Amino acid sequence: MKTLAHNPSADGYRKSMGQLLVLYTQVDRLIMEICAERIEHAPDLAAKLALAKQVGDESRHVMIQHDWMQQFGTNTAPVISDTQEALIRSHFRELPWLEFLTDMYLCVEALGSEAVENIVPLADPGTRESLQVPLSDEQDHVAFGMERLKMELAQLPAVEREAFLAAIPQRIAMLADTFLGFGLDVAELFEAVGASYETLCDAVRRRRDAVLEQVAA
Ligand SMILES: [Fe+2]
Ligand SMILES: [Fe+2]
Repeated sequence: MKTLAHNPSADGYRKSMGQLLVLYTQVDRLIMEICAERIEHAPDLAAKLALAKQVGDESRHVMIQHDWMQQFGTNTAPVISDTQEALIRSHFRELPWLEFLTDMYLCVEALGSEAVENIVPLADPGTRESLQVPLSDEQDHVAFGMERLKMELAQLPAVEREAFLAAIPQRIAMLADTFLGFGLDVAELFEAVGASYETLCDAVRRRRDAVLEQVAA
């Protein structure tokens, strides 16, 4: 682990970690709103209940992060613009259920958490603690999404199931490109908190392969 590059009291570290916290909180709030909207259209009671629980969890994450950012002295100006938020919202709103499960749980929840989990060991104690409850809940969300997707795929004709599975890497790549196109210098933010961007991308790719394997099993 590096020590100088991410001295938690250094200005660069605090500013970049602050930006990452704002990003995480903004994404959590968006997920909360998107899942709340989806409750009405979810296919059955079990799915409605899981989404409703997630809305509560995400609301708790937003609250925890807001409190922590205040203590940490973070500039809480949004890092995702209103237009970009609207784009994300309309993307999810228009997705059929299986595509929603894929983009929300395999991509945003599983791969997003993977990135955050890789930052935790490098973070200052306060930030680390603020991420504990959120990250543990995200595991529940991922588990729901994966199980549900697996179950839904098992009901499809084999050819359709295979085609859906084969298209998932492209869906993930498209979402990642969209996110990277938002203009945030994520590589610089991660490096400034002591992470190797390359190592982090490798970890996210490994997690992607693992979730794909799990859903296809
Ligand atoms: Fe969350
Ligand atoms: Fe979540």
